[in-house]
Amino acid sequence: MSNATKKQPKLLAPSILSADFAALGDEVRAVDAAGADWIHVDVMDGHFVPTITIGPLVVSAVRTVTQKPLDVHLMIENPDRYIADFIRAGADWVSVQQETCPHLDRTLSLIRSQGAHPGVVLNPATPLETIEWVLDTVEYVLLMSVNPGFGGQSFIPHTLQKIAALAKIRHERGLEFLIEVDGGIKPENIAQISAAGTDVFVAGSAIFGTSDYRAVMAQMKAMIQI
Ligand code: DX5
Ligand code: ZN
Repeated sequence: MSNATKKQPKLLAPSILSADFAALGDEVRAVDAAGADWIHVDVMDGHFVPTITIGPLVVSAVRTVTQKPLDVHLMIENPDRYIADFIRAGADWVSVQQETCPHLDRTLSLIRSQGAHPGVVLNPATPLETIEWVLDTVEYVLLMSVNPGFGGQSFIPHTLQKIAALAKIRHERGLEFLIEVDGGIKPENIAQISAAGTDVFVAGSAIFGTSDYRAVMAQMKAMIQI
């Protein structure tokens, strides 16, 4: 069934990577109260990306302080080994990096079979063609607009063309997956990123780096809900 003409909701997903980890529960409650649509959780293993961040124990702790969907972005090698653990911990949406998945179709089926919404992530240099045959399987595609591993980097401008190209493919094929973009999103560029075709906006430093989460999130949401 084609749903290409349905207007997708625009969602803001604060990334807790830039939160104060010593006060993580309060930080999550604060962005929840300030209007977060999803909570984005960056899982890094020190192998696929240089940084080590958090595991299922922290996801289950976050799960106790918010009802918002938890969007778990796995930047880890061999994600199949941990997918069930993250979903048991409370992940609602789980995305895997195409670059880590030699059996991507199987990995996405595993996420769905464990009860979460499956997504695939592409690094800035990874072509859209690599996910052509899973686009009718995924519920979202996450385009990295920085090289993953760290918060606070600058948005890579050619991502705008990639978003538009993916939105065109979605329209032509009558598919319904959401397009999420992650990295370097700020009040200054979010309108342009939205106009290219983005549905879900991940932002870490732009939100947690300010003192008034409500104000910056309202500013960002006003620029995408048009
Ligand atoms: C990067 C992470 C992002 C990061 C975004 O590897 O996947 O989610 O937290 O942070 P900002 O918004 O600061 O670029
Ligand atoms: Zn992320």
